[in-house]
Amino acid sequence: METILITGANRGVGFALVKQYVQAGDVKIFATARTPENATELNALAEQHDGVITVVQLDINDEASIDASVKAVEGETDSLDILINNAGIFPKGDDKSNSLGNLTAEDVGHVVTTNSVSPLIVSQAYRHLLKKGNNPRLVMISSQMGSLSLGGSGSYAYRMSKASMNMAAKTLSVDSDMAGVTVVTTHPGWVQTDMGGSNAAITPTESATGLKTVIDGLTSDDNGKFYRWDGSEHAW
Ligand SMILES: NC(=O)c1ccc[n+]([C@@H]2O[C@H](COP(=O)([O-])OP(=O)(O)OC[C@H]3O[C@@H](n4cnc5c(N)ncnc54)[C@H](OP(=O)(O)O)[C@@H]3O)[C@@H](O)[C@H]2O)c1
Repeated sequence: METILITGANRGVGFALVKQYVQAGDVKIFATARTPENATELNALAEQHDGVITVVQLDINDEASIDASVKAVEGETDSLDILINNAGIFPKGDDKSNSLGNLTAEDVGHVVTTNSVSPLIVSQAYRHLLKKGNNPRLVMISSQMGSLSLGGSGSYAYRMSKASMNMAAKTLSVDSDMAGVTVVTTHPGWVQTDMGGSNAAITPTESATGLKTVIDGLTSDDNGKFYRWDGSEHAW
């Protein structure tokens, strides 16, 4: 049986990943949500699959919430095989972290914190469980917008946050404290979610199916790599 923790699992790519793993079977999933009482679809799925999915409260920007989530997970398992840092934000509309002329340190900082600092702190908090896992894998759901070689204009905060997330993954992959854990970063595709919008290229199911195939196939040879949802390697 595989033991998996997915952050931001109440909607979008995170929820689609939960559904893929449940469908595959022989799993125990810790599906985290910032506000579990509002996670209607996730709670319904957890009820349908009693004992397979545990919904855990986790706001990745709140260290007390991270600590409480670790305690809740420790109450049910002493190891994790897969940790998926999926929770993230993309500033929309008039958010001041997007365009030059409107940037404030506070707005940019919030995006960078949410998309890269917090996933690193979550990884740190769960590493003792991950290190006891079977073929342990730490997966960052990042973005092609964090690729330095691809570049692109605008969306300063988001691009910076995902480049930073990628560097966190790369650094974790060579940390002796993480020995034995395969760490990768990924681009999930342009996905039809609240974040990606309805014109996006692929459905959450297509993204999650691809990501699960990538994650299933990970071995220590993949440590420190950057993959697309379709299994191809992404340029840094
Ligand atoms: N969609 C795309 O086209 C696309 C492309 C490239 C990369 N990505 C990446 O893929 C991941 C998933 O994106 P998505 O499209 O599924 O986004 P989404 O539909 O907007 O869902 C985002 C998820 O992250 C959670 N979240 C946000 N801030 C959080 C916090 N502080 N603590 C805990 N959870 C938090 C949300 O929880 P709430 O419901 O509580 O807000 C929600 O569950 C993100 O990391 C995103 O950057 C997406």
